Amino acid sequence: MRIGVLISGGGSNLQAIIDAICESRLDAQIVKVISSRPDAYGLQRAKAAGIESLALSREVFADPRGANELIAREMRQAGAEYLVMAGYMRMLGAEVLDAFPDRVINLHPALLPSFVGAHAIEDAFAAGVKVTGITIHFANAEYDKGPIIAQRALAIGEGESLDSLTERIHALEHELLPEVLSLLAAGRVCIGEDRKVHIAGLA
Ligand code: GRF
Repeated sequence: MRIGVLISGGGSNLQAIIDAICESRLDAQIVKVISSRPDAYGLQRAKAAGIESLALSREVFADPRGANELIAREMRQAGAEYLVMAGYMRMLGAEVLDAFPDRVINLHPALLPSFVGAHAIEDAFAAGVKVTGITIHFANAEYDKGPIIAQRALAIGEGESLDSLTERIHALEHELLPEVLSLLAAGRVCIGEDRKVHIAGLA
C-alpha cells in the first residue's frame, strides 16, 4: 500500500507509521510527505527516513483551491493510493477528496462525534468528561464527520493534568494508526452501502 502523509507539526504520528513499516508491522510504503507548514518538525523526520517531502508556505494557502489541487497532483504523481492526515491542521478540499475517494484517513484526538475541531483534547478536558479517546475515520467534505474506522477510549484519571492526558492520547494514536493502516493494507476495511465502515474478520 502506497501512502501519502499530510502533516502540520511534530509528526510523531508520521514517525509511528515509519517505525511500524521499519519493524514490519505494516506492509506499506510512504511515497510522500506534504506539510502545510515549512517549519514542521515532521519534515525532518521524513528527511531522516529518506522520504520525499514538500513544504507548503502560508502564501500557497491564500488560494485554497490551488493549494488543494497542488496536493492532489503531487500525491497522485508520487503514486499514493491512500492519504493519511496525521495532525494536518488545514481543511482538505474537494480537489483532494475527489481525487482519493474514500481513501483519505484522518486522525482525531477525541471520540467523535464529540469534540470536533482543532482543540479536541483541551475541549474534552475542559468539559470534565470522564472518558475520552481517539478516532480514525475516512475524511469527507464535512469536517470530522466521515465514516469512523476505529476508536480507542481512555478514562481520565481523578486529578489528571491536561499534559498527562495529552501524552496518553498521543500514545494511543501512535498505537492505533499503524494498526488501522495495516487493516487497510490487508484489504479488510470497506464502507458499506449504509456508509458505515465494516472490518472483515473482526469479532
Ligand atoms: C495529533 O494529536 C492529532 O490527532 C492532532 O494533531 C496531533 C498531531 O501530532 N490532530 P503529530 O504532528 O503527529 O505529532
